[in-house]
Amino acid sequence: MAEMSQYFRVPLICVFVVFSAFYKSSDSVQFPPVVVDSTGAEPRGHLRPFGHQREPDAKIVEYERGIHPKDFWENHVSKSRPLVFRGGAIGSLGVKLWSDEYLNRTYGDLDVIIERKVERRPQIKMRMTFSKFLENYEERSWYVVSLLPDEMRHEVEAQQCLMCGNFQKNLQELNFWMSSGGTASIIHFDADHNIHCLLAGRKDFIMIDPVYNEYLNLYKPEEAGSAYTSINVDAVDMVKFPEIRKVQWTWTTLLPGDCIFIPGKYVHQVRSYGRSISTTTLFTTHGVYNDTDCEGFSPKYATMADMDIFWTYHKGQKTVDIGYGDVILFRQELLERAVGISKHSEFFENIYESFADGFDEIASRDELWNILDKHKRGFLTEKDILDLDDESLKTFFRKAVPPAGPLQEFIISDEIHEKYLQENDVESGILELKEEAKKREKSKLKMQTVSDDDSKDEL
Ligand SMILES: *[C@@H]1O[C@H](CO)[C@@H](O)[C@H](O)[C@H]1NC(C)=O
Ligand SMILES: *[C@@H]1O[C@H](CO)[C@@H](O)[C@H](O)[C@H]1NC(C)=O
Repeated sequence: MAEMSQYFRVPLICVFVVFSAFYKSSDSVQFPPVVVDSTGAEPRGHLRPFGHQREPDAKIVEYERGIHPKDFWENHVSKSRPLVFRGGAIGSLGVKLWSDEYLNRTYGDLDVIIERKVERRPQIKMRMTFSKFLENYEERSWYVVSLLPDEMRHEVEAQQCLMCGNFQKNLQELNFWMSSGGTASIIHFDADHNIHCLLAGRKDFIMIDPVYNEYLNLYKPEEAGSAYTSINVDAVDMVKFPEIRKVQWTWTTLLPGDCIFIPGKYVHQVRSYGRSISTTTLFTTHGVYNDTDCEGFSPKYATMADMDIFWTYHKGQKTVDIGYGDVILFRQELLERAVGISKHSEFFENIYESFADGFDEIASRDELWNILDKHKRGFLTEKDILDLDDESLKTFFRKAVPPAGPLQEFIISDEIHEKYLQENDVESGILELKEEAKKREKSKLKMQTVSDDDSKDEL
Protein backbone atom coordinates (compact mmCIF):
# COMPACT_ATOMS: atom_id res chain seq x y z
CA MET A 1 0.00 0.00 0.00
CA ALA A 2 1.60 3.23 -1.14
CA GLU A 3 1.37 6.21 1.13
CA MET A 4 -1.65 8.28 0.22
CA SER A 5 0.29 11.24 1.45
CA GLN A 6 2.25 11.28 -1.79
CA TYR A 7 -0.70 13.11 -3.31
CA PHE A 8 -0.30 15.99 -0.90
CA ARG A 9 2.00 18.02 -3.04
CA VAL A 10 2.70 21.26 -1.24
CA PRO A 11 1.08 21.21 2.16
CA LEU A 12 3.69 23.33 3.83
CA ILE A 13 4.44 25.90 1.23
CA CYS A 14 2.97 28.72 3.25
CA VAL A 15 4.68 28.00 6.52
CA PHE A 16 8.02 28.74 5.01
CA VAL A 17 8.02 32.49 5.00
CA VAL A 18 8.73 34.46 8.13
CA PHE A 19 9.28 38.14 8.43
CA SER A 20 12.86 38.97 9.04
CA ALA A 21 13.77 41.32 11.79
CA PHE A 22 17.12 41.71 10.14
CA TYR A 23 16.64 43.29 6.78
CA LYS A 24 14.14 46.02 6.24
CA SER A 25 13.37 47.39 2.81
CA SER A 26 16.87 48.04 1.65
CA ASP A 27 18.20 48.01 -1.88
CA SER A 28 21.70 48.40 -0.62
CA VAL A 29 22.03 45.04 1.11
CA GLN A 30 25.05 43.29 -0.34
CA PHE A 31 24.48 39.80 -1.67
CA PRO A 32 26.24 37.48 -1.59
CA PRO A 33 27.57 38.88 1.68
CA VAL A 34 31.20 39.56 2.48
CA VAL A 35 32.20 36.66 4.69
CA VAL A 36 34.42 37.81 7.52
CA ASP A 37 36.88 35.50 9.26
CA SER A 38 36.12 35.17 12.91
CA THR A 39 38.54 36.90 15.19
CA GLY A 40 37.88 35.29 18.53
CA ALA A 41 36.99 31.81 19.60
CA GLU A 42 33.60 31.85 17.91
CA PRO A 43 33.10 29.95 14.67
CA ARG A 44 32.84 31.94 11.47
CA GLY A 45 29.41 33.44 10.91
CA HIS A 46 28.14 32.56 14.38
CA LEU A 47 24.81 34.30 15.04
CA ARG A 48 25.07 36.00 11.66
CA PRO A 49 22.49 35.62 8.86
CA PHE A 50 22.58 32.46 6.78
CA GLY A 51 25.18 32.94 4.03
CA HIS A 52 27.81 34.45 6.33
CA GLN A 53 29.21 31.07 7.34
CA ARG A 54 31.12 30.37 4.14
CA GLU A 55 31.59 31.93 0.75
CA PRO A 56 29.32 30.84 -2.07
CA ASP A 57 30.50 28.27 -4.53
CA ALA A 58 29.17 29.82 -7.72
CA LYS A 59 26.47 31.86 -9.31
CA ILE A 60 23.55 29.84 -10.68
CA VAL A 61 23.81 29.23 -14.42
CA GLU A 62 21.89 31.84 -16.44
CA TYR A 63 20.15 31.99 -19.77
CA GLU A 64 18.83 35.02 -21.58
CA ARG A 65 15.02 34.69 -21.72
CA GLY A 66 14.30 30.97 -22.23
CA ILE A 67 15.36 27.54 -23.49
CA HIS A 68 13.79 24.68 -25.41
CA PRO A 69 11.86 22.11 -23.30
CA LYS A 70 14.26 19.37 -24.41
CA ASP A 71 17.30 21.27 -23.11
CA PHE A 72 15.38 22.11 -20.00
CA TRP A 73 14.69 18.42 -19.39
CA GLU A 74 18.13 17.09 -20.32
CA ASN A 75 20.33 19.64 -18.61
CA HIS A 76 18.24 20.74 -15.67
CA VAL A 77 15.05 18.92 -14.69
CA SER A 78 16.39 15.37 -15.07
CA LYS A 79 19.62 16.36 -13.32
CA SER A 80 17.94 18.42 -10.61
CA ARG A 81 20.02 21.46 -11.53
CA PRO A 82 18.67 24.98 -10.95
CA LEU A 83 18.89 27.73 -13.55
CA VAL A 84 18.00 31.39 -13.97
CA PHE A 85 16.09 32.83 -16.92
CA ARG A 86 17.28 36.43 -16.98
CA GLY A 87 14.32 38.34 -18.37
CA GLY A 88 12.32 35.09 -18.53
CA ALA A 89 9.11 36.92 -17.65
CA ILE A 90 10.02 40.41 -18.80
CA GLY A 91 7.20 40.20 -21.35
CA SER A 92 4.66 40.12 -18.52
CA LEU A 93 2.33 43.09 -18.59
CA GLY A 94 2.28 42.73 -14.82
CA VAL A 95 5.87 43.94 -14.59
CA LYS A 96 4.79 47.31 -15.92
CA LEU A 97 1.20 47.51 -14.77
CA TRP A 98 0.89 46.03 -11.30
CA SER A 99 0.92 49.08 -9.08
CA ASP A 100 -1.28 48.84 -5.98
CA GLU A 101 -3.66 51.28 -7.58
CA TYR A 102 -3.98 49.22 -10.78
CA LEU A 103 -4.33 45.94 -8.92
CA ASN A 104 -7.04 47.40 -6.72
CA ARG A 105 -8.91 48.94 -9.63
CA THR A 106 -8.67 45.90 -11.90
CA TYR A 107 -8.64 42.92 -9.55
CA GLY A 108 -9.79 44.29 -6.20
CA ASP A 109 -12.87 42.07 -6.09
CA LEU A 110 -10.98 38.76 -6.44
CA ASP A 111 -10.21 36.65 -3.38
CA VAL A 112 -6.74 35.89 -2.10
CA ILE A 113 -5.45 33.76 0.74
CA ILE A 114 -3.29 35.72 3.10
CA GLU A 115 -1.11 35.09 6.08
CA ARG A 116 0.23 37.48 8.61
CA LYS A 117 3.13 37.89 10.88
CA VAL A 118 2.34 35.77 13.93
CA GLU A 119 4.65 34.73 16.64
CA ARG A 120 3.13 31.36 17.19
CA ARG A 121 2.48 28.37 15.01
CA PRO A 122 0.52 27.19 13.24
CA GLN A 123 0.08 30.00 10.79
CA ILE A 124 -3.53 30.92 10.27
CA LYS A 125 -4.69 31.61 6.75
CA MET A 126 -7.42 34.03 5.88
CA ARG A 127 -9.36 34.66 2.75
CA MET A 128 -10.38 38.15 1.72
CA THR A 129 -10.71 40.39 -1.30
CA PHE A 130 -7.53 41.65 -2.91
CA SER A 131 -8.77 45.15 -2.22
CA LYS A 132 -8.95 44.51 1.53
CA PHE A 133 -5.44 43.11 1.43
CA LEU A 134 -4.05 46.10 -0.46
CA GLU A 135 -5.54 48.49 2.06
CA ASN A 136 -3.83 46.78 4.96
CA TYR A 137 -0.76 44.84 3.90
CA GLU A 138 1.95 47.34 4.70
CA GLU A 139 0.67 48.28 8.09
CA ARG A 140 -0.22 44.78 9.18
CA SER A 141 2.61 42.79 7.61
CA TRP A 142 0.18 40.67 5.68
CA TYR A 143 1.29 38.74 2.68
CA VAL A 144 -0.51 36.89 -0.08
CA VAL A 145 0.31 33.25 -0.73
CA SER A 146 -2.53 32.34 -3.04
CA LEU A 147 -3.41 31.08 -6.47
CA LEU A 148 -2.88 33.49 -9.34
CA PRO A 149 -6.52 34.20 -10.23
CA ASP A 150 -7.48 33.19 -13.77
CA GLU A 151 -8.42 36.79 -14.46
CA MET A 152 -4.78 37.84 -14.00
CA ARG A 153 -3.09 35.09 -15.96
CA HIS A 154 -2.94 36.99 -19.25
CA GLU A 155 -0.62 39.54 -17.63
CA VAL A 156 2.06 36.97 -16.78
CA GLU A 157 4.39 35.62 -19.46
CA ALA A 158 4.62 31.82 -19.78
CA GLN A 159 8.04 30.18 -19.93
CA GLN A 160 9.01 28.62 -23.22
CA CYS A 161 10.59 25.59 -21.52
CA LEU A 162 7.16 24.47 -20.26
CA MET A 163 5.29 24.61 -23.54
CA CYS A 164 5.66 20.98 -24.64
CA GLY A 165 7.53 17.78 -23.78
CA ASN A 166 4.98 16.69 -21.18
CA PHE A 167 5.71 19.61 -18.86
CA GLN A 168 2.77 21.37 -20.38
CA LYS A 169 0.40 18.54 -19.28
CA ASN A 170 1.68 18.51 -15.71
CA LEU A 171 1.30 22.09 -14.58
CA GLN A 172 -0.27 21.79 -11.15
CA GLU A 173 -0.91 25.33 -10.00
CA LEU A 174 0.14 28.95 -10.35
CA ASN A 175 0.80 30.76 -7.14
CA PHE A 176 0.73 34.46 -6.51
CA TRP A 177 2.94 36.02 -3.81
CA MET A 178 2.89 39.58 -2.64
CA SER A 179 4.24 41.38 0.41
CA SER A 180 5.66 44.69 1.46
CA GLY A 181 9.05 43.02 1.78
CA GLY A 182 11.59 42.21 4.41
CA THR A 183 10.70 38.52 4.28
CA ALA A 184 13.10 35.67 4.85
CA SER A 185 12.11 32.08 4.21
CA ILE A 186 13.43 29.32 6.37
CA ILE A 187 15.82 26.78 4.85
CA HIS A 188 13.54 24.22 3.20
CA PHE A 189 12.58 22.21 0.14
CA ASP A 190 9.19 21.72 -1.54
CA ALA A 191 7.77 18.65 -3.23
CA ASP A 192 7.17 20.05 -6.72
CA HIS A 193 9.38 21.56 -9.36
CA ASN A 194 8.92 25.29 -9.42
CA ILE A 195 9.61 28.20 -11.75
CA HIS A 196 9.56 31.33 -9.64
CA CYS A 197 9.31 34.64 -11.51
CA LEU A 198 9.68 38.04 -9.92
CA LEU A 199 7.40 40.79 -11.20
CA ALA A 200 8.26 43.47 -8.64
CA GLY A 201 10.98 43.94 -6.05
CA ARG A 202 14.20 42.04 -5.42
CA LYS A 203 14.79 38.52 -4.16
CA ASP A 204 18.05 36.84 -3.17
CA PHE A 205 18.27 33.05 -3.41
CA ILE A 206 20.62 30.66 -1.63
CA MET A 207 20.48 27.23 -3.30
CA ILE A 208 21.88 24.04 -1.79
CA ASP A 209 22.55 20.77 -3.57
CA PRO A 210 20.90 17.69 -1.97
CA VAL A 211 24.33 16.18 -1.18
CA TYR A 212 24.50 18.64 1.72
CA ASN A 213 21.10 17.79 3.17
CA GLU A 214 22.70 15.71 5.90
CA TYR A 215 24.33 18.82 7.40
CA LEU A 216 21.13 20.83 7.53
CA ASN A 217 19.17 19.10 10.27
CA LEU A 218 16.15 18.84 7.97
CA TYR A 219 12.81 17.90 9.45
CA LYS A 220 10.41 16.11 7.11
CA PRO A 221 6.86 15.70 8.41
CA GLU A 222 5.51 12.24 7.63
CA GLU A 223 2.69 13.60 5.52
CA ALA A 224 4.78 15.84 3.37
CA GLY A 225 6.93 15.81 0.27
CA SER A 226 8.63 18.84 1.72
CA ALA A 227 11.04 19.50 4.58
CA TYR A 228 12.51 22.36 6.58
CA THR A 229 15.03 23.19 9.26
CA SER A 230 14.70 24.97 12.57
CA ILE A 231 17.89 26.93 11.95
CA ASN A 232 17.30 30.63 12.55
CA VAL A 233 18.23 32.22 9.23
CA ASP A 234 18.79 35.63 10.82
CA ALA A 235 21.24 34.32 13.40
CA VAL A 236 22.72 30.94 12.61
CA ASP A 237 23.87 29.16 15.74
CA MET A 238 27.19 27.68 14.64
CA VAL A 239 27.76 26.04 18.00
CA LYS A 240 24.54 24.08 17.69
CA PHE A 241 24.85 23.50 13.93
CA PRO A 242 28.62 23.39 13.27
CA GLU A 243 28.23 21.38 10.07
CA ILE A 244 26.70 24.38 8.31
CA ARG A 245 30.25 25.37 7.43
CA LYS A 246 30.45 22.32 5.14
CA VAL A 247 27.38 23.36 3.17
CA GLN A 248 28.35 24.74 -0.22
CA TRP A 249 25.85 27.02 -1.89
CA THR A 250 25.10 28.79 -5.13
CA TRP A 251 23.23 32.03 -5.49
CA THR A 252 21.34 34.51 -7.60
CA THR A 253 19.50 37.79 -7.24
CA LEU A 254 16.25 38.16 -9.16
CA LEU A 255 15.02 41.54 -10.37
CA PRO A 256 11.65 42.25 -12.01
CA GLY A 257 11.16 40.02 -15.06
CA ASP A 258 13.69 37.35 -13.95
CA CYS A 259 12.84 33.71 -13.15
CA ILE A 260 14.56 30.88 -11.33
CA PHE A 261 13.95 27.15 -11.72
CA ILE A 262 13.98 25.42 -8.33
CA PRO A 263 13.97 21.64 -8.81
CA GLY A 264 11.60 19.63 -6.61
CA LYS A 265 13.20 18.71 -3.28
CA TYR A 266 16.04 21.18 -3.83
CA VAL A 267 16.90 23.10 -0.65
CA HIS A 268 16.67 26.88 -0.86
CA GLN A 269 16.44 30.00 1.25
CA VAL A 270 15.02 33.29 -0.02
CA ARG A 271 14.97 36.91 1.09
CA SER A 272 12.89 39.73 -0.33
CA TYR A 273 13.44 43.46 -0.05
CA GLY A 274 10.81 46.12 -0.48
CA ARG A 275 7.43 45.60 -2.13
CA SER A 276 7.59 42.27 -3.82
CA ILE A 277 5.38 40.35 -6.26
CA SER A 278 6.11 36.87 -7.62
CA THR A 279 4.33 34.14 -9.48
CA THR A 280 5.35 30.52 -9.22
CA THR A 281 4.48 27.68 -11.59
CA LEU A 282 4.44 24.32 -9.82
CA PHE A 283 4.83 21.24 -11.98
CA THR A 284 5.53 17.55 -11.63
CA THR A 285 7.15 15.01 -13.92
CA HIS A 286 6.04 11.42 -14.30
CA GLY A 287 8.05 8.54 -15.73
CA VAL A 288 9.97 8.87 -18.94
CA TYR A 289 10.35 12.09 -20.84
CA ASN A 290 8.13 12.08 -23.91
CA ASP A 291 8.42 14.96 -26.33
CA THR A 292 6.46 13.73 -29.32
CA ASP A 293 4.27 16.79 -28.81
CA CYS A 294 7.32 19.04 -29.35
CA GLU A 295 7.41 18.22 -33.04
CA GLY A 296 7.18 21.48 -34.93
CA PHE A 297 7.42 23.47 -31.71
CA SER A 298 8.96 26.87 -32.10
CA PRO A 299 9.37 29.46 -29.38
CA LYS A 300 6.58 31.98 -29.27
CA TYR A 301 5.26 34.54 -26.87
CA ALA A 302 2.49 33.16 -24.69
CA THR A 303 0.96 34.05 -21.37
CA MET A 304 -0.23 31.93 -18.49
CA ALA A 305 -3.76 32.31 -19.88
CA ASP A 306 -2.62 30.08 -22.79
CA MET A 307 -1.43 27.29 -20.48
CA ASP A 308 -3.47 24.40 -19.06
CA ILE A 309 -3.28 24.33 -15.29
CA PHE A 310 -4.93 21.73 -13.04
CA TRP A 311 -5.84 23.72 -9.96
CA THR A 312 -7.15 27.22 -10.54
CA TYR A 313 -9.25 29.95 -9.01
CA HIS A 314 -11.60 32.41 -10.60
CA LYS A 315 -14.00 34.96 -9.15
CA GLY A 316 -16.86 33.42 -7.21
CA GLN A 317 -15.25 29.99 -6.79
CA LYS A 318 -15.95 28.31 -3.49
CA THR A 319 -12.47 26.96 -2.85
CA VAL A 320 -9.14 28.52 -3.68
CA ASP A 321 -7.59 25.23 -4.75
CA ILE A 322 -4.12 25.53 -3.29
CA GLY A 323 -2.00 22.49 -2.43
CA TYR A 324 -4.40 19.75 -3.50
CA GLY A 325 -3.30 16.42 -4.95
CA ASP A 326 -1.66 15.35 -8.16
CA VAL A 327 -4.49 14.12 -10.37
CA ILE A 328 -2.26 12.24 -12.81
CA LEU A 329 -0.42 10.41 -10.06
CA PHE A 330 -3.69 9.50 -8.38
CA ARG A 331 -5.10 8.03 -11.59
CA GLN A 332 -1.90 6.01 -12.10
CA GLU A 333 -2.14 4.69 -8.57
CA LEU A 334 -5.76 3.68 -9.11
CA LEU A 335 -4.83 1.90 -12.34
CA GLU A 336 -2.08 -0.03 -10.62
CA ARG A 337 -4.02 -0.98 -7.53
CA ALA A 338 -7.72 -0.41 -7.85
CA VAL A 339 -8.85 -2.47 -10.87
CA GLY A 340 -11.53 -4.88 -9.66
CA ILE A 341 -11.83 -3.46 -6.17
CA SER A 342 -15.07 -2.80 -4.34
CA LYS A 343 -16.03 -0.21 -1.78
CA HIS A 344 -15.28 -2.70 0.98
CA SER A 345 -11.84 -3.62 -0.30
CA GLU A 346 -8.81 -3.01 1.82
CA PHE A 347 -7.46 -0.60 -0.77
CA PHE A 348 -10.43 1.73 -0.69
CA GLU A 349 -10.63 1.39 3.07
CA ASN A 350 -6.98 2.47 3.30
CA ILE A 351 -7.52 5.40 0.99
CA TYR A 352 -10.45 6.48 3.07
CA GLU A 353 -8.63 6.12 6.35
CA SER A 354 -5.55 7.99 5.21
CA PHE A 355 -7.62 10.82 3.76
CA ALA A 356 -10.04 10.94 6.68
CA ASP A 357 -7.21 11.28 9.15
CA GLY A 358 -7.17 14.86 10.27
CA PHE A 359 -10.12 16.08 8.25
CA ASP A 360 -13.34 16.13 10.20
CA GLU A 361 -15.37 17.36 7.27
CA ILE A 362 -14.50 14.47 4.95
CA ALA A 363 -17.33 13.20 2.74
CA SER A 364 -18.89 9.81 3.51
CA ARG A 365 -17.43 6.58 2.13
CA ASP A 366 -20.40 6.23 -0.20
CA GLU A 367 -20.08 9.73 -1.52
CA LEU A 368 -16.40 9.28 -2.31
CA TRP A 369 -16.92 5.84 -3.76
CA ASN A 370 -19.67 7.07 -6.05
CA ILE A 371 -17.30 9.56 -7.63
CA LEU A 372 -15.11 6.68 -8.78
CA ASP A 373 -17.85 4.12 -9.51
CA LYS A 374 -19.84 6.19 -11.98
CA HIS A 375 -21.77 3.21 -13.37
CA LYS A 376 -22.76 1.95 -9.91
CA ARG A 377 -21.35 -1.50 -10.60
CA GLY A 378 -20.00 -1.93 -7.09
CA PHE A 379 -16.47 -2.46 -8.39
CA LEU A 380 -14.03 -0.63 -10.68
CA THR A 381 -12.88 -1.78 -14.10
CA GLU A 382 -9.76 -0.54 -15.84
CA LYS A 383 -11.96 1.36 -18.25
CA ASP A 384 -13.84 3.04 -15.40
CA ILE A 385 -10.56 4.37 -14.10
CA LEU A 386 -9.27 5.43 -17.51
CA ASP A 387 -12.55 7.21 -18.14
CA LEU A 388 -12.41 9.19 -14.92
CA ASP A 389 -11.98 12.74 -16.09
CA ASP A 390 -9.80 15.30 -14.34
CA GLU A 391 -12.85 17.09 -12.97
CA SER A 392 -14.08 13.96 -11.18
CA LEU A 393 -10.71 13.33 -9.62
CA LYS A 394 -10.50 16.94 -8.55
CA THR A 395 -13.91 16.63 -6.94
CA PHE A 396 -12.63 13.55 -5.13
CA PHE A 397 -9.71 15.54 -3.70
CA ARG A 398 -11.89 18.48 -2.74
CA LYS A 399 -14.15 16.19 -0.76
CA ALA A 400 -11.45 14.05 0.77
CA VAL A 401 -8.61 16.43 1.60
CA PRO A 402 -8.77 19.44 3.86
CA PRO A 403 -8.50 22.61 1.78
CA ALA A 404 -5.24 24.43 2.33
CA GLY A 405 -7.05 27.74 2.26
CA PRO A 406 -10.32 28.72 3.87
CA LEU A 407 -13.57 28.22 2.01
CA GLN A 408 -15.52 31.20 0.87
CA GLU A 409 -17.68 31.00 3.98
CA PHE A 410 -14.66 31.75 6.08
CA ILE A 411 -14.03 35.11 4.51
CA ILE A 412 -13.27 37.33 7.41
CA SER A 413 -15.92 39.94 7.93
CA ASP A 414 -14.96 43.43 9.00
CA GLU A 415 -16.14 42.95 12.57
CA ILE A 416 -14.25 39.73 12.96
CA HIS A 417 -11.17 41.40 11.53
CA GLU A 418 -11.19 44.09 14.09
CA LYS A 419 -12.17 41.86 16.96
CA TYR A 420 -9.78 39.00 16.43
CA LEU A 421 -6.87 40.47 14.55
CA GLN A 422 -6.41 43.21 17.07
CA GLU A 423 -6.66 40.80 19.93
CA ASN A 424 -4.22 38.59 18.03
CA ASP A 425 -6.60 35.70 18.45
CA VAL A 426 -7.16 34.57 14.91
CA GLU A 427 -7.72 30.96 15.88
CA SER A 428 -10.82 31.78 17.92
CA GLY A 429 -11.97 33.86 14.98
CA ILE A 430 -11.63 30.95 12.61
CA LEU A 431 -13.42 28.64 15.02
CA GLU A 432 -16.29 31.06 15.34
CA LEU A 433 -16.50 31.35 11.57
CA LYS A 434 -16.54 27.58 11.18
CA GLU A 435 -19.43 27.36 13.60
CA GLU A 436 -21.20 30.09 11.69
CA ALA A 437 -20.64 28.28 8.43
CA LYS A 438 -21.98 25.01 9.78
CA LYS A 439 -25.13 26.71 10.98
CA ARG A 440 -25.51 28.39 7.65
CA GLU A 441 -25.06 25.12 5.79
CA LYS A 442 -27.69 23.48 7.97
CA SER A 443 -30.24 26.15 7.34
CA LYS A 444 -29.44 25.80 3.63
CA LEU A 445 -28.53 29.42 3.29
CA LYS A 446 -26.33 29.82 0.29
CA MET A 447 -23.66 32.41 -0.07
CA GLN A 448 -24.89 34.73 -2.75
CA THR A 449 -21.41 35.09 -4.09
CA VAL A 450 -21.13 31.45 -5.10
CA SER A 451 -21.95 31.58 -8.77
CA ASP A 452 -24.02 28.92 -10.47
CA ASP A 453 -21.25 27.44 -12.52
CA ASP A 454 -19.46 26.57 -9.34
CA SER A 455 -22.29 24.70 -7.70
CA LYS A 456 -20.81 21.51 -9.09
CA ASP A 457 -17.67 22.19 -7.10
CA GLU A 458 -19.41 22.55 -3.82
CA LEU A 459 -18.18 20.60 -0.88
C1 LIG B 1 -9.54 50.29 -3.79
O1 LIG B 1 -10.67 50.70 -4.52
C2 LIG B 1 -11.81 51.04 -3.72
C3 LIG B 1 -12.94 51.44 -4.64
O2 LIG B 1 -13.13 50.52 -5.63
C4 LIG B 1 -11.47 52.14 -2.75
O3 LIG B 1 -12.57 52.39 -1.90
C5 LIG B 1 -10.25 51.76 -1.93
O4 LIG B 1 -9.87 52.84 -1.11
C6 LIG B 1 -9.10 51.36 -2.81
N1 LIG B 1 -8.02 50.87 -2.00
C7 LIG B 1 -6.75 51.11 -2.26
C8 LIG B 1 -5.77 50.50 -1.36
O5 LIG B 1 -6.40 51.80 -3.19
C1 LIG C 1 4.11 10.03 -25.96
O1 LIG C 1 2.99 10.91 -25.95
C2 LIG C 1 2.11 10.74 -27.05
C3 LIG C 1 1.04 11.78 -26.92
O2 LIG C 1 1.57 13.07 -26.87
C4 LIG C 1 1.55 9.35 -27.07
O3 LIG C 1 0.71 9.18 -28.18
C5 LIG C 1 2.69 8.33 -27.10
O4 LIG C 1 2.15 7.03 -26.99
C6 LIG C 1 3.66 8.58 -25.96
N1 LIG C 1 4.82 7.69 -26.09
C7 LIG C 1 5.25 6.93 -25.10
C8 LIG C 1 6.46 6.10 -25.39
O5 LIG C 1 4.72 6.91 -24.00
